[in-house]
Amino acid sequence: MNLFDVYQLYNVTPVKATNVYVTDDKGIEYLDLYGGHGVVSIGHSHPHYLSKLKEQLDAIGFYSNAVKNPLQNQLAEKLGTVSGYPDYSLFLCNSGAEANENALKLASFYTGKKRVITFENSFHGRTSVAVSVTDNPKINAPINSTNPKTFLPLNNVESVEKELAKDDVCAVIIEGIQGVGGLDEGTTTFFQGLEKLCKKYNVVFIVDEVQSGYGRSGEFFAHQAHNVSPDIISIAKGMGNGFPIGGILISPKFKATYGMLGTTFGGNHLACAAGIAVLEVIEKEDLMQNVKSILKYFIEKAKKIPQVKNVKGRGLMLGLEFDFEVAELRKKLIYEKYIFTGGANNKKLLRILPPLTVKKEHIDIFFKALKEVLE
Ligand SMILES: Cc1ncc(COP(=O)(O)O)c(C=O)c1O
Repeated sequence: MNLFDVYQLYNVTPVKATNVYVTDDKGIEYLDLYGGHGVVSIGHSHPHYLSKLKEQLDAIGFYSNAVKNPLQNQLAEKLGTVSGYPDYSLFLCNSGAEANENALKLASFYTGKKRVITFENSFHGRTSVAVSVTDNPKINAPINSTNPKTFLPLNNVESVEKELAKDDVCAVIIEGIQGVGGLDEGTTTFFQGLEKLCKKYNVVFIVDEVQSGYGRSGEFFAHQAHNVSPDIISIAKGMGNGFPIGGILISPKFKATYGMLGTTFGGNHLACAAGIAVLEVIEKEDLMQNVKSILKYFIEKAKKIPQVKNVKGRGLMLGLEFDFEVAELRKKLIYEKYIFTGGANNKKLLRILPPLTVKKEHIDIFFKALKEVLE
């Protein structure tokens, strides 16, 4: 059987990975400044993470949500403390799209309404409702077009109010920092305006922190820099350091009923063990502090490269903007310098999403290589 050929692949076959390095089947070591698309938060094969997962696998890997699983409570408690949302509750699922799907569903249950306000250049995943509020017609099939949604420009509070006043909106969904779209983000005035408007019109305020969460921005959640408290926060990527896990943090104003949301695999024992280990390492190694100091260093270095026209993003969710398309540059970095980087919808943006454990010496390696390939 062949694989359904939907991914355009680089010719690299990783077989091993440690912290910020990935080794391929030929023994070549690559510096991973892509983190498997912002997923690897605490570094590949972190020893604490490995021992927790192995220990859990030896005990019990999976049972369904028909029985008690105290690891889910432990994960929720730890996440509440580390994130600063101890009074929210947690629903666990398996991916970012699924997190947003459940967030939007909950918003619709809560308000009894259907229309969603979303933003230009947004990406919220590929499942039914999540993809429909994603600003990319190419990945929306006709079957995804049934639920009503409206795309608005970022940072225009008036246009949001005009729509909410129509009284048919269940949710506003916005990324903490836009990922795939190219690292644009709402201003503090905009985030605070959204929070206020959602309260005024009884609309659910959802912040998608699937990529920008879990310390990647230097705050636990990117929206925390704007001093707002969304009604629902969706999470995934960095949460499991590669183990598939996602979830939504839900404000106390929502009341759960049996069967309202559900999943077979979500919150299984192994996923919870991964999730707990990640939070323990983020806390113990003070990774958010590392993100902040590496950011400063990265920006200083980037400013010295004349071809870099702009540095976008925050924390370790960064993009170097050039005045040319970067596809060739990425190829050179990977095949000649053995460095993984990311791309975006904005073809002139080179994305940097390393594990949050990355050090200055790795940034030095990157900039030396970048200078050489730009020559
Ligand atoms: C902001 C955001 N939301 C949702 C998703 C979808 O996550 P997943 O691919 O785990 O379904 C992504 C993935 O890139 C993302 O960046």
